[in-house]
Amino acid sequence: MKVTVVGAGAVGATCADNIARAALAEDLVLLDIKEGLAEGKAQDMMQTAALLGFDTRITGSTNDYSKTAGSDVVVITSGLPRKPGMTREELIGTNAGIVKGVAENILKHSPDAILIIISNPMDTMTYLALTDTGLPKHRIIGMGGALDSARFKYQLSQHLHCSPDDLNAVVVGGHGDTTMIPLIRLATWNSAPVTKFLSTEQQQKIVADTMVGGATLTKLIGTSAWYAPGAAGAALVKSIVRDEKKLFTCCVSLNGEYGQKDICLGVPVTIGRHGWEKILDFGLNADEQALFNKSAEAVRSMNDVLKTL
Ligand code: 2OP
Repeated sequence: MKVTVVGAGAVGATCADNIARAALAEDLVLLDIKEGLAEGKAQDMMQTAALLGFDTRITGSTNDYSKTAGSDVVVITSGLPRKPGMTREELIGTNAGIVKGVAENILKHSPDAILIIISNPMDTMTYLALTDTGLPKHRIIGMGGALDSARFKYQLSQHLHCSPDDLNAVVVGGHGDTTMIPLIRLATWNSAPVTKFLSTEQQQKIVADTMVGGATLTKLIGTSAWYAPGAAGAALVKSIVRDEKKLFTCCVSLNGEYGQKDICLGVPVTIGRHGWEKILDFGLNADEQALFNKSAEAVRSMNDVLKTL
């Protein structure tokens, strides 16, 4: 297997590091436009191989896409990260041009690749990648919900005093501070509904804190987070290259599912060797569906901005 990560910033490098440590690919390429950055980080990671015991070959490249040729999976993290106080949506002007160029260059050398989009605003960048490349929809996966669901489990674990790994909980909708929908009604702690153990106030706080999870970290760190975004990208790569068919919430093209069309939005999907394979209908109640429709409206108006660029 060959995997490429485009963007050697904090998210891209962390994603690559996770992929290498788990030996998910024989060949891993890290590419960036900044001279020497990807080569340097690739070499640094390669120097952990003897310590950590993996044999993935990691190559760095300054914008030379020929090195990415024949990739099975490509993770796109390129673009500006958020600064404190900034929404993900404010990045659209700069990042749309970058993501478009990256996707086109990648497909010239890896026409069969599955693309995982991490760049923000993630829902709109996923829609852009889908509409611009014309790739089959199953090969374009936006990472947002996988990350937001992990953050949701973290928040739940803090109140339940339990292992996040014992929780099943998903965030659907957009990957924005006001567009994501943590489905607390359906969340379970080893199959017991979490709502059984949490007061209404606790539930409201968990949902609110999950929604601003990324913004909270941006404020604390001074830039966008990277450990969980990078790990979420790598978890999707793992499910693809090992054909795990794991269930994640990912941003995928909807054609009537969850009542929406002509949009990419976060819904529960299985991820396997061919990309996203099947959308699961979790049966939203009326309130949740109303939130989902509102989220779609916000993402759709963001997608409309693409036409003006
Ligand atoms: C985040 O939420 C990178 O959008 C990403 O941290």
